[in-house]
Amino acid sequence: MTDDNHVLTPVLTKRWLSPNSWTRHTYEQLEGYTALPKALKAHPDQLIELVKASGLRGRGGAGFPTGLKWSFIPQGDGKPHYLVINADEGEPGTCKDIPLMMADPHSLIEGCIITSYAIRANFCAIYVRGEVLHCIRRLNAAVQEAYAAGYLGKNILGTGFDLDLVIHAGAGAYICGEETALLDSLEGRRGQPRLKPPFPATAGLYASPTVVNNVETIASVPYIVNGGSDWFRAMGREKSPGPKIFSLSGHVEKPGQYEAPMGITLRELLDMAGGMKDGIPLKFWTPGGSSTPMFTAEHLDVPLDFEGCAQAGSMLGTTALQIFNETVSVPWAVMKWTEFYKHESCGKCTPCREGTFWLTQILQRMVRGEGSPSDIETLLDICDNILGRSFCALGDGATSPITSAIKYFKHEFLELCQQNAAAQPELAGASS
Ligand code: NAI
Ligand code: SF4
Repeated sequence: MTDDNHVLTPVLTKRWLSPNSWTRHTYEQLEGYTALPKALKAHPDQLIELVKASGLRGRGGAGFPTGLKWSFIPQGDGKPHYLVINADEGEPGTCKDIPLMMADPHSLIEGCIITSYAIRANFCAIYVRGEVLHCIRRLNAAVQEAYAAGYLGKNILGTGFDLDLVIHAGAGAYICGEETALLDSLEGRRGQPRLKPPFPATAGLYASPTVVNNVETIASVPYIVNGGSDWFRAMGREKSPGPKIFSLSGHVEKPGQYEAPMGITLRELLDMAGGMKDGIPLKFWTPGGSSTPMFTAEHLDVPLDFEGCAQAGSMLGTTALQIFNETVSVPWAVMKWTEFYKHESCGKCTPCREGTFWLTQILQRMVRGEGSPSDIETLLDICDNILGRSFCALGDGATSPITSAIKYFKHEFLELCQQNAAAQPELAGASS
């Protein structure tokens, strides 16, 4: 920890190790549902201003200012408003929202009630990926507890505010984490992205104004109501304030979720996680899932916030730090990620549907030892035709592992091709 902004104060994870942390009883014992009465006494616009002042930015990956998003919901439009929680955590390596919902579901529910009140919504849906049945069951149990206590339903805490909240299980498609595909899926259609604009804030669920926010974003709201915007801003960085859950996976001694202020570095997180597994040195890592360009051992001191990662040539993304040591082949890892994108491409637009197919074919050929050096240029050319030309972020994200891997580890791709050329003399000329 290097400065005051790095003083670690567990906020989002503070109840996780308490016995039965997921129950209403434990939540209430540990200050739970204390922000709600305060919020319901305030004017909804005051809550929007509070969240704006806190600087909270979306924790799903894109980092859009949360209060600003809420303020886009038109008022007096006569339409119903909706809050939809994106709990379809699917980005490779990302494991923060599901642990949060398992350990402390009531913090999300309290955040949903406060947010719904702020944006004048009377219906909220939490869209959870279908594979995590245990999480869906836990959320449903927590929602029932909240209804029984009068935190949900009609006339919440006698204030006249009504809110119904449902847990919706998705069917396990990565694309349904894209907010408009999620809305289509929630409406009962095949989940495919919609054209934006219009953004969900003006035309979302059933074409009505809808706030779509990530789990961790909304679970942060009760703490901001209780602590105030200055308290929240005292953690992290000026443009990326607040605490954040970082998920570490791969070659670390103690993989798992680590809460830290925005702007912490991988070097500091590795200290918390017991260092590299078996002491084998770090080779490459992703700051925010495989859709974010990879980093190397040179980037251990990059501040993990939206600006720090962007300045270093990547993105903060979902703060899913996937750590790989020197034993891992970069082309092999990139091939595995690309196979995932090809499988999950929804097929709506040509650059992504065809591009991820061809990228996979070429990478598989290279890893089998049947590639040629010109394949590297072909990979970059296909990425160039996907990036910025795809309908949604999945296509762009699919190019990140490839372009960043070739930037830092081109020699590994060339070595694979040279092995092939040596085995097949007719290719040797092509590589010279
Ligand atoms: P985006 O930047 O297009 O939008 C972010 C949010 O801001 C959306 O809710 C959008 O509706 C809102 N927004 C942006 N401009 C707006 C405007 N002018 N008016 C009203 N609202 C506006 O990013 P997108 O496509 O929603 O998300 C991409 C990110 O998702 C990637 O950076 C990636 O890190 C992350 N991701 C996360 C996954 C996960 O499992 N959590 C899975 C895959 C990607
Ligand atoms: Fe579907 Fe891929 Fe196009 Fe997104 S980029 S709409 S996932 S085909």
